[in-house]
Amino acid sequence: MTVKISVLGRKGGVGKTTIAKTLADGCAKQGLSTLLIDADGQGNASTGMKINKHDAFYQLIMEDAEWNDVIMQVPSEHLETDKLFLVSASDAQMRVENYHPSVPGDLTITDRIYQRFAELDGAFDVVVVDTSPSINQVNSALYYATDYALLPVLCEKDPILGLNSTINYLEEAERFGQESNIPAIQILGIIPNMYSRRETVQSTNLGYIRGRYHEYHTFDPIDKKTIWKQASQLAVSIYNVDTNMLERRDQKTAIKQFKPILDRVIQLAHAEVSDEQ
Ligand SMILES: Nc1ncnc2c1ncn2[C@@H]1O[C@H](COP(=O)(O)OP(=O)(O)O)[C@@H](O)[C@H]1O
Ligand SMILES: [Mg+2]
Repeated sequence: MTVKISVLGRKGGVGKTTIAKTLADGCAKQGLSTLLIDADGQGNASTGMKINKHDAFYQLIMEDAEWNDVIMQVPSEHLETDKLFLVSASDAQMRVENYHPSVPGDLTITDRIYQRFAELDGAFDVVVVDTSPSINQVNSALYYATDYALLPVLCEKDPILGLNSTINYLEEAERFGQESNIPAIQILGIIPNMYSRRETVQSTNLGYIRGRYHEYHTFDPIDKKTIWKQASQLAVSIYNVDTNMLERRDQKTAIKQFKPILDRVIQLAHAEVSDEQ
């Protein structure tokens, strides 16, 4: 089977795209066949992988395109893996987000996305979805079409309010799922990102998140480091930034801090494989 993960959050700039991209590349480098789906019309996950953004997601959902026709291989020369694939999104994503069936019997976006994502079962080991920060029906469809949510957050007031709201939506989806026997997404973990250890307000806020959401896993924070920005600018992941001596330490730290997230997903992917045997 296939482990499907959505990176979700009601706030821009908290690291959704960065985490989706790093996770997908990390899984691929571990030999897992991995599909990164860009579900944000800004197309940052696509351009962040050196792929020109285009409306593949739209074609898949609105024009019944075949997966094989919209999946692209991420150029392997920069990433040192040939296991990473991508579905892009661009401006027409808005039309998916705002579509409502007008003809009776026409499928809703939730149903379409659910059905199309079910077709991925067995085709990849891991699917990672990068999402947009808005409330829209693509994101709510992912509450049912994918299995796990990763929730990046900054340890600051507004992002925490965004996290609260995201978790409210997810819990609502879970209740709805239970009533209607559709398994809903599970929260795999909250990821405190761009953390500054020197700022006491951040550690207070981290404590707040851990306390309020103790029933969910909160990963150890990922520090704010230039290496993450460099990776975005070079359109590679942190694993492939060609660092000088000074930067190498930060790169090691970043990779080490991301490892528990990567390991958790790899563990889930391997568990899926052994379930089938
Ligand atoms: N831990 C980090 N330290 C420093 N910069 C980061 C970190 N994580 C992400 N960034 C940078 O922050 C910016 C926003 O991240 P991005 O992943 O695009 O957020 P989102 O997808 O939630 O809008 C990007 O320039 C990215 O490189
Ligand atoms: Mg983004």
